[in-house]
Amino acid sequence: MRENIPESWLVMITVILVTAIFAKLIQFKLRKEDKSKCRLPPGRRSWPLIGDSINWYNAVASSHPPQFVEEMVKRYGKIFSCSLFGKWAVVSADPSFNRFIMQNEGRLFISSYPKSFRDLVGKNGVITVQGEQQRKLHGIASNMMRLEKLKFHFLNDIQSVMIQTLSHFHNYQVILLQDVCRKVAIHLMVNQLLGVSSESQVNEMAQLFSDFVDGCLSIPVNIPGYAYHTAMKAREKIISKINKIIEAHRQNGAPMEGNGVLGRLLEEESLPDDAVADFIINLLFAGNETTTKTMLFAVYFLTQCPRAMKQLLDEQDSLRSNSGDELLTWQDYKSMTFTQCVIDETLRLGGIAIWLMREAKENVQYQDFVIPKGCFVVPFLSAVHLDENVYSGPLNFNPWRWMEPENEEKRNWRSSPFYAPFGGGARFCPGAELARLQIALFLHSFVTTYSQEDDNTREQQLSPHDGLNTIVDKDLFLVSQFLGDQEEVEPECPTAKTQRRKQK
Ligand code: HEM
Repeated sequence: MRENIPESWLVMITVILVTAIFAKLIQFKLRKEDKSKCRLPPGRRSWPLIGDSINWYNAVASSHPPQFVEEMVKRYGKIFSCSLFGKWAVVSADPSFNRFIMQNEGRLFISSYPKSFRDLVGKNGVITVQGEQQRKLHGIASNMMRLEKLKFHFLNDIQSVMIQTLSHFHNYQVILLQDVCRKVAIHLMVNQLLGVSSESQVNEMAQLFSDFVDGCLSIPVNIPGYAYHTAMKAREKIISKINKIIEAHRQNGAPMEGNGVLGRLLEEESLPDDAVADFIINLLFAGNETTTKTMLFAVYFLTQCPRAMKQLLDEQDSLRSNSGDELLTWQDYKSMTFTQCVIDETLRLGGIAIWLMREAKENVQYQDFVIPKGCFVVPFLSAVHLDENVYSGPLNFNPWRWMEPENEEKRNWRSSPFYAPFGGGARFCPGAELARLQIALFLHSFVTTYSQEDDNTREQQLSPHDGLNTIVDKDLFLVSQFLGDQEEVEPECPTAKTQRRKQK
């Protein structure tokens, strides 16, 4: 028995060795096959596991997000690979490839979000669902916010909310622009999604909406005290409010709360209740922060470019005198040509939706590359918007560029590969027209109601390096100043000097 032990050890060791060699050979063969099948674009793997995640995070959280991409493009070209969050990622600053990715949504690529995000915005919402379900919900969203609906349902409501929200500031009150834009955007969302208009209800819902949006952009820790947890609680309360409106609708046969998107959704479509709630919450998430930032950047860029501010003011003043004290009409909106240029330039330079996140559904061949199934694919929209080969003086705020005939084609934000602030393909932003209307009406109210001039009255060359962080650092305080005959008091404001704009 004792003599047999070494022999059985010998057999075991041989078996282990042979198995290991076979495993290694198979692994080597698979890797070789994989490599020959998947020719990733040039790039680097960087640190094990972490890869370039930290560089990526630092860049996108900085005031100039395309920085990392610009550096990589210089080294590897417009389509490059790197390692993000433990996976290969193909990042693109190439307009045609970006378009290819967006056009092939659902076929070759699918949008990709972490579970914590899906739990918060809802599993049945248009952002998180795929395939047939996504197409159906996207169709409903586009229908709810199409031009006809904007004309009849949104135009006046937006102006009423604007008047209600902006009239709350008293003369010479120092206001932080960021807070104003956020408040306006949230109040618009409450009013237009739920149809709520009484002030107390708007305020109550606005707080819940605000908590919810904060959580979407925070670390996903579902423990009391964390923004994500507060957002989960806010989500429950918003759903309960939505369910009450649905119930009232069923009992009364008509929405109790006016004609918001929710009311019309119940009238015109037949979605299950939980899908209705997620639908509304998805619109809230997708529309709130994007609109807030565009309003904020538009005013910021204008304050740094007095010539543009003056031209915008002249355009808006002329509309005001046309319509007297009445609300603006659709015709007025359609004649805001320079305002539209300001909005386009803000969307280009401000980088509101900076990049999109996708995953390859299968091995995808593009030019000489093969992108392996499961790989992240990131169309980096703002890298194209700030490319000096596409736009002259790309870092300057120059709304007049959109009036040049050579940019006419480029400007088509529904189909242009060079200008895609609202994405493209099957996930093209269904709220694009609504957002543009809201921003135009906000600019109208803002510049015709208040005047401000901060210390920087010189015309400057702006760059996105002066992004959101700088705006907050510099505290773009505006001192509300009604354009009426009111007593002149020197405002106490640390960073902004105000002057009453000369009355016409
Ligand atoms: C200036 C403001 C806005 C910008 C820059 C913007 C930008 C975008 C972009 C780039 C996408 C595509 C996302 C992707 O492909 O993964 C998108 C999708 C979406 N947007 Fe907007 N958006 C804005 C305002 C709004 C508003 C006001 C609403 C509605 C109230 C809205 C609702 C949506 C929805 C529901 C989607 C998802 C569509 C889908 O996945 O099928 N957006 N938006």
